Amino acid sequence: MTKLIRRYEDRTRLNHWAVAILFICAGLSGLAIFHPSMFFFSALFGGGSWTRILHPFFGVLMVLGFVFLFFQVWRDNFWTREDTAWLKHSPDLLKGEEGGMPPVGKYNAGQKAVFWIFGISLILLLVTGIMFWRPWFADLFPIVVRRFAVLIHAISAVVLIISVIIHIYAAIWVKGSVQAMTRGTVSESWARKHHSLWYRKITGGK
Ligand code: HEM
Repeated sequence: MTKLIRRYEDRTRLNHWAVAILFICAGLSGLAIFHPSMFFFSALFGGGSWTRILHPFFGVLMVLGFVFLFFQVWRDNFWTREDTAWLKHSPDLLKGEEGGMPPVGKYNAGQKAVFWIFGISLILLLVTGIMFWRPWFADLFPIVVRRFAVLIHAISAVVLIISVIIHIYAAIWVKGSVQAMTRGTVSESWARKHHSLWYRKITGGK
C-alpha cells in the first residue's frame, strides 16, 4: 500500500478552499462590472445592482481569508539561495527534464513567487478598492486619486487572475498535488520526487 504523508491540516484546507470560492465570487462579480461583454456573470449574483453591492464584500472576505492562510504558510515561502538556483534551471523543468533540478523544500521557487504575487496583488486590490468604494469611502479621496486607484485595481486583478490560473495549472500538472489540498496527504514517492528537502526534514533526515 502507498505510504501517505500529511501535508496540510484540516483548518488549512478549509481556509484554502474558502479563499478559492471567495476568489471565484469576487472575480466573476468584478468581471461583470468591469466590461459589458462580461455583464452576463451578474446573473449569478442576483442582477447588476446586487453584483455591484456584493463585489467589494466578496473582495474584503477573500483578503481576510488569505491573511489567515498567509500566516500558516509564509515561513515555508521564504526565498532562499537554492530558490534562485532552481529558477535558473526552470526552463529544463518546462521541457520535462525534472531529474536535473536542484532539490527543494516544502515549496519550489515557482510556488513561492506565485505566493508573494498573490499577497502583493491582494494588498493592492484591497487598498485601491476601498478608495473608490461607494458610498462608504470614495468621497474621502480626490477624483484624480480615485481614477488612479481604479487603474491599479484593474491591473492587480488581471495579475491575480493570471497567477491563479498558473497556480491551478501547476497543481494539475504535477500529478498528486491536488490531493494534498483535498485530502491533506501526499504519497511518499510524490514528496521524495518533488520536495526532497521537505521529505528529508519531516522524516528526520532519512
Ligand atoms: C480555485 C482553484 C484552486 C486550486 C485547484 C488550488 C489548488 C492548490 C493545491 C493543490 C495546493 C497544494 C500545493 C502543494 O502543496 O504543493 C494549493 C496551495 C495553496 N494555494 Fe491554492 N488552489 C486554488 C485557488 C487558490 C487561490 C484563489 C489562492 C489565493 C489567492 C490560493 C492560495 C494557495 C496557497 C497560499 C497555497 C499554499 C502553497 C504556497 O504557499 O505556495 N489557491 N492550492
